[in-house]
Amino acid sequence: MNTPSKISIVIVGAGHMGSALALGLKNSNLNISIIVIEPNPIRRASITANGICTQESIPELKNTKILLLAIPPQAFFSFTENCEKIKNYSGLVISVMAGLTISTLKKATYTTQICRAMPNISCAKLDGMTVLYYSKKTKNTNRALTNQLFSSLGKCLLLKKEYLIDSATALVGGGPAYVAYFATSLLNFATSNGFDKKSASLITTQIIRDTTTLLAENKNSPLNICKLVMTAKGTTEQAIKYFDKNKLSNLVIEGLNKACAQSKKIGEGR
Ligand SMILES: NC(=O)c1ccc[n+]([C@@H]2O[C@H](COP(=O)([O-])OP(=O)(O)OC[C@H]3O[C@@H](n4cnc5c(N)ncnc54)[C@H](OP(=O)(O)O)[C@@H]3O)[C@@H](O)[C@H]2O)c1
Repeated sequence: MNTPSKISIVIVGAGHMGSALALGLKNSNLNISIIVIEPNPIRRASITANGICTQESIPELKNTKILLLAIPPQAFFSFTENCEKIKNYSGLVISVMAGLTISTLKKATYTTQICRAMPNISCAKLDGMTVLYYSKKTKNTNRALTNQLFSSLGKCLLLKKEYLIDSATALVGGGPAYVAYFATSLLNFATSNGFDKKSASLITTQIIRDTTTLLAENKNSPLNICKLVMTAKGTTEQAIKYFDKNKLSNLVIEGLNKACAQSKKIGEGR
């Protein structure tokens, strides 16, 4: 019987995203060895405390199957310029960095095997969403490996057009923040109307959890769920009418457009 070989991955950057990915991968069902590179000793210690191997600087990459870059896009060029070891690496590079295009990544690395991935922090809980886009020359084995990696961290979607990554950065990468922002409004309503913090938190969390179940089961548009709740001349209708009158939905779309524009701006080096 063939045992699948261990996937060796080096994750550069243990900030919010890098550590979410490292934690998720450690708890996934993959046969994987992970090394996280992080200059900050406090962050290194927190990752090590979770049983993940860390180093201050990048190791020899000879046996590394995947080099995953989770540093700020602004740090990418100085990282590649100062990293001798990346010059001898021709394996798979996965970038989760906002904005940086395949063409930019190709010029600064020494491989043709490149994937742009846009995950979100829910990957830490194996309940993430990731969209993927590959450089044309990426081998099928590397595509399959990347798909296996991110599928183990939640749901995964392949993009056919690179420009969609900027929208995905707004939508997927930022997604948990928007839901958490709305949750904060619900929480604030609850506490300002007399609920203690614990009860407000229980109610808010459960509402979001049960609505995601309804959304996943709902074959039609999410607005159908609104309609189910909005009894004619009832209470919820008053709130939704107020949201509509003040164009809350447009405001949300405009906000995400701003996030998308920022991703493009980073890509253009502005
Ligand atoms: N946060 C998200 O939810 C999310 C979602 C999708 C994609 N992303 C992408 O993920 C990347 C990281 O975002 P983040 O939110 O995790 O940022 P972050 O919390 O600021 O973390 C970035 C980490 O990278 C480290 N770093 C910087 N330069 C480095 C280098 N040369 N070598 C090794 N480590 C280095 C930083 O260390 P120091 O602080 O010591 O400099 C920091 O620990 C970004 O490109 C972002 O676009 C983030």
